[in-house]
Amino acid sequence: MFKRFRRVRANKTLRELAQETRVDIKEFIYPLFIKEGRGERKEIASMPDIFQMSIDEALKECEELLELGINKIILFGIPEIKDSIGSDALSDEGIIAKALKAIKKQFGQNMLVITDLCFCEYTDHGHCGILDVEHESVDNDATLEITARQALVHANAGADMIAPSGMMDGVVKTIREALDNEGFVNLPIMSYSTKFASAYYGPFREAAESSPNFGDRKTYQMNPANRREALAESLEDEAQGADILMVKPALAYLDIVREIKNASLLPLCVYNVSGEYSMLKFAAKAGVVDYDRILMETMLSFKRAGADIIISYHAKEVARLLQNGRNL
Ligand code: PBG
Ligand code: ZN
Repeated sequence: MFKRFRRVRANKTLRELAQETRVDIKEFIYPLFIKEGRGERKEIASMPDIFQMSIDEALKECEELLELGINKIILFGIPEIKDSIGSDALSDEGIIAKALKAIKKQFGQNMLVITDLCFCEYTDHGHCGILDVEHESVDNDATLEITARQALVHANAGADMIAPSGMMDGVVKTIREALDNEGFVNLPIMSYSTKFASAYYGPFREAAESSPNFGDRKTYQMNPANRREALAESLEDEAQGADILMVKPALAYLDIVREIKNASLLPLCVYNVSGEYSMLKFAAKAGVVDYDRILMETMLSFKRAGADIIISYHAKEVARLLQNGRNL
């Protein structure tokens, strides 16, 4: 006697019936890089088909996204002027505040707008917060103070969700208190709760013009070797009041995704980061992979590992594939 697993693989309909996980466009969040100017759309060399765009272009992009069934975006800002504390991010006239107001004015509840809360795109040194007095690393608690201010700028400009990505200790508690004190008790926080110091962010740093001009991010982002600490980081953010947890990057960390999924009842997001995106794009350009298949297989792997939500530069491609009836 042996089990005939092949019985339910015999044809497409049976395989469909026996399929355990699926990809749904409703769980996708699409990242947008917003810059100053008008009519600007600049392709990022390291990320084919991904653009930095001015606010007017971003509004057009949102129309296109909605037509594809994508109604959730996360915004990254590229300010005209950078300084030591990232002032643009603290101003109601900063690039993200302006973009938020424009998008919310045009689309209201039809587009869920999440903001990435960090300072690396806004500081002249490219680190994710204020530097300490020795200028060797980021000062955790000083950065918490300006992060709370940044969260309120986003909240006042109409953000639907705040996503702190700087990996400062205590950031979720700090933001939650700041939001609650100003009456934003219902504004959710999606924390980049387990974020590794990863080489997979390489292309993003070109996209967001956010490379540190000295050192690296290893004193605040996590060591890729650490599984227990990865779990502790996410559980701590849950305890501080995060509404959604996140693992970043996604593909090389699916074991961590499963671990956190099993340990927390909160929704779990994965960030399918720039390096993961560009690897597939350039492999396709080289003609060495079946792009559509490898793309859907990758998205499915996130779901199988336990992700509920996927931030991905591939979201538009996924939408088109799903519209054509491709789920694998
Ligand atoms: C900012 C931030 C980064 C990413 C998202 N928010 C870059 C970094 O930490 O260097 C990476 C996104 C990607 O690679 O697609 N802290
Ligand atoms: Zn940062």
